[in-house]
Amino acid sequence: MLSSFLGGAVLALGTLASASRFDSGLEWISTNSSLPKVVIYSAGGTILSASNYSRIDNINYGSGVSPTPADLIGNATEILNVAQLAIVRFATSGGSSGANSSLFLNITQYANRQLCAEDSDIAGAIMFHGTNTLEETAFGVDMTFNCSKPFIATGSMRPNTYMSPDGPSNFYQAVAAAASPSSRDRGGLIAFNDRITSIYYSTKLNANTPDTFKALEQGNLGAFLAGQPYYFFGPSYPTGRPYFDVRNTTVLPSVIILYGHQGFDDSLLYAAVANGAKGLIIMGAGAAQLRPSTQAVAAELFSKGIPVVAVARPASGTGVPRPQSGSVFFASYIGAEQARIVLQLGINAGYDMDQIRDLFESPLRNAIYEPYANQEIYF
Ligand SMILES: *[C@@H]1O[C@H](CO)[C@@H](O)[C@H](O)[C@H]1NC(C)=O
Ligand SMILES: *[C@@H]1O[C@H](CO)[C@@H](O)[C@H](O)[C@H]1NC(C)=O
Ligand SMILES: *[C@@H]1O[C@H](CO)[C@@H](O)[C@H](O)[C@H]1NC(C)=O
Ligand SMILES: *[C@@H]1O[C@H](CO)[C@@H](O)[C@H](O)[C@H]1NC(C)=O
Ligand SMILES: *[C@@H]1O[C@H](CO)[C@@H](O)[C@H](O)[C@H]1NC(C)=O
Ligand SMILES: *[C@@H]1O[C@H](CO)[C@@H](O)[C@H](O)[C@H]1NC(C)=O
Ligand SMILES: *[C@@H]1O[C@H](CO)[C@@H](O)[C@H](O)[C@H]1NC(C)=O
Repeated sequence: MLSSFLGGAVLALGTLASASRFDSGLEWISTNSSLPKVVIYSAGGTILSASNYSRIDNINYGSGVSPTPADLIGNATEILNVAQLAIVRFATSGGSSGANSSLFLNITQYANRQLCAEDSDIAGAIMFHGTNTLEETAFGVDMTFNCSKPFIATGSMRPNTYMSPDGPSNFYQAVAAAASPSSRDRGGLIAFNDRITSIYYSTKLNANTPDTFKALEQGNLGAFLAGQPYYFFGPSYPTGRPYFDVRNTTVLPSVIILYGHQGFDDSLLYAAVANGAKGLIIMGAGAAQLRPSTQAVAAELFSKGIPVVAVARPASGTGVPRPQSGSVFFASYIGAEQARIVLQLGINAGYDMDQIRDLFESPLRNAIYEPYANQEIYF
């Protein structure tokens, strides 16, 4: 256990940091009180799992004894040479596939309180999360986290008992990134498999292998060398990345995602609304194109105040709005599960239809149509 490993070191060195107003309740694990402080928001996942079947089990996860975050630190003590660590655990049931927006709302409230207060002395945060829906919880936090400090999501694809688990390395790299000033002013990041990507654009692309989180079109922001982050470019935020204040929010309005395909059943739109959806995301073929009959239903819902946002079904690229405003909105280069969260947050913030259209379309409109605002141009 970590406590037995550290019990002597911590107490002998007297480095248990005194709690300030913003980290009250946090217990710092530390061997050097000069190092940056990094909080671990732990929502479980494969990184905290173990199999008792064999050292090659990365599929069935026989129920071994799961390590705790403190066990991971105890087994990779090098991590305490880059940061002081504190752990906040968030309950999850049913793994990350069972998670919902309550989880990100809770994590972001902690992160804003503990990191974004003016005199907070915490350098950054990492989040452990099951990889199945990591991109959703991370995106929710990213949209609602109000300061420039690093928020780095990580996890693992192999149980900790695998013959070469990816968890310890991902953990080390995420902490090094969260402790590094070079990670600031970029929005939330994912540290995984030796690479750094933007949460805003990243998605899980492989169901089984460690090289799974990628931003296909936007690429990697950096790589890890000897555990330290190396960024290819200086800091910048993703284009059009919005911010929502959810400090008082506990429940978000329902928004569901439908997958467009040949022979799509348009009645699913009505069914979703009848079940309480306040907005819909539809994945449209090609550049987010909907069938004419689906467009007609979307127009009817638009007139009733239910926004319908089209997202491109291909793995990369984007739907593009027409020059004139339409009754279907087009998301600018974000995926369906991310667009769903943006729409929930926009509706929750009381945005009207024009504001919701702007939320999704203004990045593309500004880039494509603004330069020709005073010309007659046909695309
Ligand atoms: C503690 O960390 C500081 C800052 O990185 C470093 O200068 C110092 O040498 C470290 N002390 C020990 C005992 O390692
Ligand atoms: C694995 O753990 C489970 C639950 O503790 C136990 O029932 C099972 O016998 C174990 N399997 C092996 C192969 O050790
Ligand atoms: C290493 O991890 C195992 C669980 O995977 C745990 O039982 C053990 O206590 C850890 N070692 C230390 C020193 O924390
Ligand atoms: C939020 O997480 C904290 C820390 O784990 C927990 O104590 C609290 O019950 C959670 N709140 C909600 C509303 O889930
Ligand atoms: C999310 O899941 C938790 C249990 O894991 C449940 O208590 C909560 O009501 C759910 N929230 C929503 C918005 O469904
Ligand atoms: C913080 O919130 C303000 C509005 O309250 C917003 O203008 C600003 O962009 C936010 N900062 C970040 C880093 O999200
Ligand atoms: C949250 O609610 C409290 C108490 O009602 C209020 O004082 C505060 O201004 C609200 N904050 C935000 C950001 O809405």
